[in-house]
Amino acid sequence: MLIHSASQLLTLSGGPQRGHTLGQLGLLENGAVLVREGTILAVGSSEEMLRAYPEEGCLDAGGCAVLPGFVDPHTHVIWAGDRAAEFEMKMAGAKYMEILAAGGGILSTVRRTRQASLETLMDETRLRLQRMFAFGTTTAEAKTGYGLQTETELRMLDAILKLDAEGPLELAPTFLGAHAIPLEYKEDPQGYTDHICNEMAPAVKAWWHGQKMKANRQLPFVDVFCETGAFDLAQSRQILTRAKELGFPLKLHADEFDNLGGASLAAELSAVSADHLVRTSDADIAALANSDTVAVSLPCTPFGLAENAYTPAQKILAADGLLALATDCNPGTAWCESMQFVIALACRALKLTPAQAIAAATINAAHAIRRAERIGSIEPGKQADLLVLSVPDYRQLGYRFGTNLVKQVIKRGNVYCGERLFLSGGFL
Ligand code: NIG
Ligand code: FE
Repeated sequence: MLIHSASQLLTLSGGPQRGHTLGQLGLLENGAVLVREGTILAVGSSEEMLRAYPEEGCLDAGGCAVLPGFVDPHTHVIWAGDRAAEFEMKMAGAKYMEILAAGGGILSTVRRTRQASLETLMDETRLRLQRMFAFGTTTAEAKTGYGLQTETELRMLDAILKLDAEGPLELAPTFLGAHAIPLEYKEDPQGYTDHICNEMAPAVKAWWHGQKMKANRQLPFVDVFCETGAFDLAQSRQILTRAKELGFPLKLHADEFDNLGGASLAAELSAVSADHLVRTSDADIAALANSDTVAVSLPCTPFGLAENAYTPAQKILAADGLLALATDCNPGTAWCESMQFVIALACRALKLTPAQAIAAATINAAHAIRRAERIGSIEPGKQADLLVLSVPDYRQLGYRFGTNLVKQVIKRGNVYCGERLFLSGGFL
């Protein structure tokens, strides 16, 4: 298939973009992409490519912009129920971490998720994944963390693998048994930390190796919510160190509300990413920038909580750090399935240009889940995950918000548009 007549073809070629190199779009005017068997074979100008491949089936981009599918490298998209009542409480003045301390928040979703069957969990989540896909996300990371006991955590992982296999959206799994202290361990957070290290993480590894899947598929990431009222720095270190010994790649929720030093810990342990990064100090920023750990900013979270502090993205770029963007899609702080909205918000709250935000949501986001070799840009040899916008100018992303500018989603070379984007469950 030859996708041609893209007013602007954003290739994002050349690998992850550090510091002020962020925003190199690799823009080709009137560009074309040759796709066969789900893989990108060639990229060039429409005249050249139409001449070189006259027999090829065509998809006319019709003067619209074409770019890589969005990668959403931080989501808690697997859950049951909702927390609309807590949203109302928060807007009336209640604090997110206080609601958690009183047994609500994450723990209320834990109750609903423990009760849900695998089918219910998959049915509720599938609708969210369909919305994400329709808004242009072609690959997303997905965390457990609403089980906080081995059985439910494994059910969540099972749901992630089964939904990934269903497609079309691909999922990269993360084990987040360290998302909160479950009520059973309310008086003994250290006991739960030890339980994760001694029982749960080894059980996840054994379960993973018992699954039928492609050989060499890397273990899921292991993540910890390093925060006052969740896991302190020593407990975060203990869990991540143990996970690393077991061979898991690492991620960390750091500095969402308080600075406990999590970002530096993530850099020290060579975590793949450190995420949230709102209360991050200059020393932590320097540690991150001197590492390969990607700084993942989640601007929907302060927005969703109506708070004013956001990731110091300009400082991260000035220090030559690697910046990526994600939704954080979850029922408590940020129920948002749209990377287009994240881009628009990042332009305003993080002061990124549309080009920078797009690079942070594609190639750098792919790097934040260790998949930049396969996705995140339009280059020969990469998987054919692309978006055709309904507009000719990429800057409409960022400029406009709350709407969907994606006309067609191409996943592994298959084209989804019109009704195929508005799948079974009716309207989005
Ligand atoms: O990233 N901070 C911890 N986890 C999520 C919120 C999860 C929830 O409230 O259910 C976050 O914001
Ligand atoms: Fe999160």
